[in-house]
Amino acid sequence: MTQFHQNSAAAGLLERDREWLLPVYARFPIVMERGEGVYLFDTSGNRYLDMMGGLGVNALGHAHPRMVRATAEQTAKLVHLSPQYCTPFAGELAERLCALSGMQGVFYSTGGAEAVEGAIKVARAFAAEAYGPHKHRIVSLLGSYHGRTMGSLAVTGQTKYRDGFGPDLPGVDFAVRDDIASLQAAVSDETCCILIETVLGEGGVYEVSHEFLAEARRLADRHHALLVLDEIQCGLGRTGDWFAFSRTGVRPDVLILGKPLGGGLPLSALLVSGELFHALGLGKHGSTLGGSPLACRLGLEFLSVVEEEGLLARVCDTGSYLREHLEALARELDIAVEARGVGLIQALELNVPGRQIAESALEQGLMLNFVQGNVMRFLPSFLLERQHVDTAMEIVRPLLRKVNAETAAAELVLASR
Ligand SMILES: Cc1ncc(COP(=O)(O)O)c(C=O)c1O
Repeated sequence: MTQFHQNSAAAGLLERDREWLLPVYARFPIVMERGEGVYLFDTSGNRYLDMMGGLGVNALGHAHPRMVRATAEQTAKLVHLSPQYCTPFAGELAERLCALSGMQGVFYSTGGAEAVEGAIKVARAFAAEAYGPHKHRIVSLLGSYHGRTMGSLAVTGQTKYRDGFGPDLPGVDFAVRDDIASLQAAVSDETCCILIETVLGEGGVYEVSHEFLAEARRLADRHHALLVLDEIQCGLGRTGDWFAFSRTGVRPDVLILGKPLGGGLPLSALLVSGELFHALGLGKHGSTLGGSPLACRLGLEFLSVVEEEGLLARVCDTGSYLREHLEALARELDIAVEARGVGLIQALELNVPGRQIAESALEQGLMLNFVQGNVMRFLPSFLLERQHVDTAMEIVRPLLRKVNAETAAAELVLASR
């Protein structure tokens, strides 16, 4: 295992975490102290290029001056109050999100999973009211990821996350991504919604085909079901459009956003079409911390920065540059299976485990992220530039070449036995 050089203070902090924090994350043995743009710095002063962006949250990198200013100003005025009161920001942010997405109403919560729960409630409440309680089934995709609460787990199409927590929420059917026949078989008149992660992120970075999405829309209409798009990871600019569905021609009835929305503060949003505005009536839903004045103020600042700094264009440019590099690696290396992705949600699938590669990269000042154990997933800040991609590749390329050579050598030994 890679040995990280820690100072004694860092070692103490790591030890304390091990003692007090439940061991649900495979953590790296360093302590991060601060961030600046696309870089992070540990407590020993070492600098790291951040290619995982806080799992897609840090779209504006770290300590963006406008976010810092907005945080300081708003913190001095009002951080939180009961959602029963109006503040200047929740409504303005909702109006802007709706203008961007074509939706017509917003409910705020704190994390992604909570927003997924809200979407399930909207779909079930709307269908039960309009057609009766039999219409409660949810169609989701195998390989999808929607969160860790009981409802969001139940619609997550990966048994490894659900195992051990049963019984699951009943009424969920799974279809195979991009397999239209399987979607047709899964949807019935009992379906209240079809839930699709427009780009499956945690599942390995697979963009759902436009044809499949169009068929989901058609089936939803035919069966009076809602089309719900989970764009918690791929929405809000990550694909180079405001939303991953933007370029597909398909419009959802419900859209779920999260991750970068609050500029690093917990904020997620459930957006609905006009028809669904009253699906959750008075007292039917809530979130104490959802849509705080501080988080919504940062949400507004986040949208403004993306617009005013022209970041969608940069996401497209840097994303395609990164993709070219990943495709070259996929062509060159036997351990690389495929490069895929869109904008700045990119991946290089390997046929070897990634943990050791991520640790070696970290030792050299590069933060990488693997999903499914072997898919190198990139979710960097929208501020990333071509020069940063070059820097990352100067570390990734030799690392992968080394693993490639070692794997080939090991296979040779095996073959000669
Ligand atoms: C597509 C998608 N949906 C839902 C979630 C759950 O979000 P959270 O971890 O904020 O609850 C995630 C998190 O990675 C996600 O990528």
